[in-house]
Amino acid sequence: MPVHTDDPFLRACRRQPSSRVPVWFMRQAGRSLPEYRAIRGVGSILDVIRQPDLAAEITLQPVRRYGVDAAILYSDIVVPVEAVGFGVDVVPGVGPVVREPFAGKADLGRLRTLEPEADIPYVLEAVHLVTAELDVPLIGFAGAPFTVASYLIEGGPSRTYARTKALMHADPSTWTALLDVLADMALASLRAQVAAGASAVQLFDSWAGALAPDDYAALVLPASRRIFAGLEDLGVPRIHFGVGTGELLGLMSDAGPDVVGVDWRVPLDVARTRIKPTQAVQGNLDPALCFAPWEVLESATRQVLAQGAGPGHVFNLGHGVMPDTDPGLLERVVEVVHAAPGPVDAPPIGDG
Ligand code: CP3
Repeated sequence: MPVHTDDPFLRACRRQPSSRVPVWFMRQAGRSLPEYRAIRGVGSILDVIRQPDLAAEITLQPVRRYGVDAAILYSDIVVPVEAVGFGVDVVPGVGPVVREPFAGKADLGRLRTLEPEADIPYVLEAVHLVTAELDVPLIGFAGAPFTVASYLIEGGPSRTYARTKALMHADPSTWTALLDVLADMALASLRAQVAAGASAVQLFDSWAGALAPDDYAALVLPASRRIFAGLEDLGVPRIHFGVGTGELLGLMSDAGPDVVGVDWRVPLDVARTRIKPTQAVQGNLDPALCFAPWEVLESATRQVLAQGAGPGHVFNLGHGVMPDTDPGLLERVVEVVHAAPGPVDAPPIGDG
């Protein structure tokens, strides 16, 4: 089904007024849904992602259940590096684990350009299947070079990113070469997802908030900027997101997205002052509040709506749905967001 031109999600991404505030949730696919657990089976998520029928069905589940305004493809940020044979798995409850972490220049030879049609045909097939059925936009995504590099270098999740930062500073030319190849892979993957039918894309730099602004600006921003520039001709909204990025919002906005994702640590009205007046915001309900009483969650939802008020607000959580979240609560959050009036008119650009 084609997506309507006055679609609220696409309009909000472009800062155009719309009938309502659109909402979707990061990590809405998989995680807390019982219907997901019923069909997921056991083993690595990568095996599920390789089955387009299953991946498409899981992508559609939260749209049916929650009535959200966008779907996000069921896949993972490590799919491209795994597809070129780097040796990555995703361990349930842990996340991506790399058998032989990236240790230096010689490991660049283990990466190469992604050829989406040949390397990740199952991802593109899932996009085709989903968009044939969906009447809301599908968001394609990729991991940003820094966040993917952090998994390759650390070998798994990290709290300090000590190895990543050590390599970045000890061998900046290898670091830059690594980020360049990861940027090429992300760009190829995103362009292919759009060609297959995705209506918007999100670049997840989930762990960029670990960086000092100067390091982000010198050693990370150029690679991410190249990805956004390389998508411009496609004309689809581009979203840039990270966690703990309050001090980086200005730089992440300089990378050139249309929408800047914000976690719950920065109120959306404050976030708007740190980004360009031409950019929209996405966020930012604290996902942990789903474990507080409904009254607390409801009033926090209304506060996010008030702070995000104005054209160009895509309602979301500040990070992903947590695994034990009661899906019924997210349904109620969607109802509250949809009952709120949509933004009426855009202030003139340069006014804010
Ligand atoms: O619902 C969606 O958001 C769409 C699908 C999606 C997954 N991963 C599926 C998944 C998306 C967009 C991602 C992106 C992703 N993967 C990110 C960026 C987004 C973010 O949350 O910050 C990151 C950092 C990863 C790496 C990764 N993969 C982590 C940290 C984990 C969690 C480990 C865990 O189990 O807690 C994964 C596994 C993963 N990716 C699951 C799902 C549904 C977990 C459940 C499973 O294995 O079935």
